[in-house]
Amino acid sequence: MGVTARYLVDTGPGLHAGPSAPAAEILFVHDGTGLDALALPALGDIYPLRTARLEEAGPLLSNSTLAVVFCVDMSAPDTIRKIRDQFVDAGAQAPRIFILPTADRRSIVQAYSAGAHQLLVAPVSVASAEQVIGPLVNKSAEGLWGRLTDVQQSALRISLKLFEDTRASSLRGEGLDRSSVTRACNGVISAVSHDDFPSLLNALRSHHNYTFRHSMFVTGTLVSFCDALGFCQEDISRAATAGMLHDIGKVVTPNAILDKPGRLDPAEMAIMRGHVTAGGEILSQNGDWPADIVHAVLHHHERLDGAGYCNGLSGAAITDLTRMVSIADVFSALIDKRAYKPAMSGRDAYQIMLKAEGQLDMALVAAFEPIAHSIK
Ligand SMILES: [Fe+2]
Ligand SMILES: [Fe+2]
Repeated sequence: MGVTARYLVDTGPGLHAGPSAPAAEILFVHDGTGLDALALPALGDIYPLRTARLEEAGPLLSNSTLAVVFCVDMSAPDTIRKIRDQFVDAGAQAPRIFILPTADRRSIVQAYSAGAHQLLVAPVSVASAEQVIGPLVNKSAEGLWGRLTDVQQSALRISLKLFEDTRASSLRGEGLDRSSVTRACNGVISAVSHDDFPSLLNALRSHHNYTFRHSMFVTGTLVSFCDALGFCQEDISRAATAGMLHDIGKVVTPNAILDKPGRLDPAEMAIMRGHVTAGGEILSQNGDWPADIVHAVLHHHERLDGAGYCNGLSGAAITDLTRMVSIADVFSALIDKRAYKPAMSGRDAYQIMLKAEGQLDMALVAAFEPIAHSIK
């Protein structure tokens, strides 16, 4: 199977030779005191990390640094001065989060005098790290949303909350809230129907919650596709739900795998591919979802020739809705910039999709052309 053909099956990392640009990452600054062991596992589960000792960290700052997390003994001589010299007085833009051994007044005062924007107390859990770092990391991306219409902004905020809440509830072993899914889908349908989809898509491009961003790409693409095909409202809602939920299993996939700049090893690839069954499990915790929604979640990486996963389904075993989700999924992955590939125009993405004869439904791909060409 050639690289293009494999790409159309996997639409994930590991299929390109290397990163297109420096990967977005958290710079984790430590001094070897041991406190880092109480923070690294949680942080590494959320964001790609680069670790460095305090003396060597300053030069590693770049435009790709999402945030700097300090895990150092603040009472050691010169620590506050070294931090201020390298990160505060030098005018570094990345937000600074300090991990404290305890929440005592002295530690808090020391952290703020060293330039802290936010604090975390060890041991750091995935939930606490996401709650503190997530808003800081996405502040500039979400700041751009103010230029959108109220309908578009509402669609983005409701949908982001859906993905954040579903990740939190999944980590607690609970499912997702169906009424939130409906609200998010209705928001995207309104936004795409009344405003233009490309501006919504562009407002999402720099957001660092990948599963939210990609799922919004796919949902908006599907709603536009259904509109173009003249579908009724009920069918548009069904397709939007399938798009919104198709990768819901990725809320529990570590970002270190989702955003890995290089090739995934076999174990990582197995975890990545496991998002379809993880999605099925999340759905199963909330009663009876329509069978075609469950089918799309489980089988959007199947291919007509049987070369996909997770069950190697082929031909008529793959429903029309799932075929449409696959097309929107491949297209959305191609036009999105990732750590391992650059963004692509809609026209270029469509040219690649035309090579998927035997894998994607080419009659549907032909109908998709105007949608693809509308994305610059
Ligand atoms: Fe997927
Ligand atoms: Fe996807």
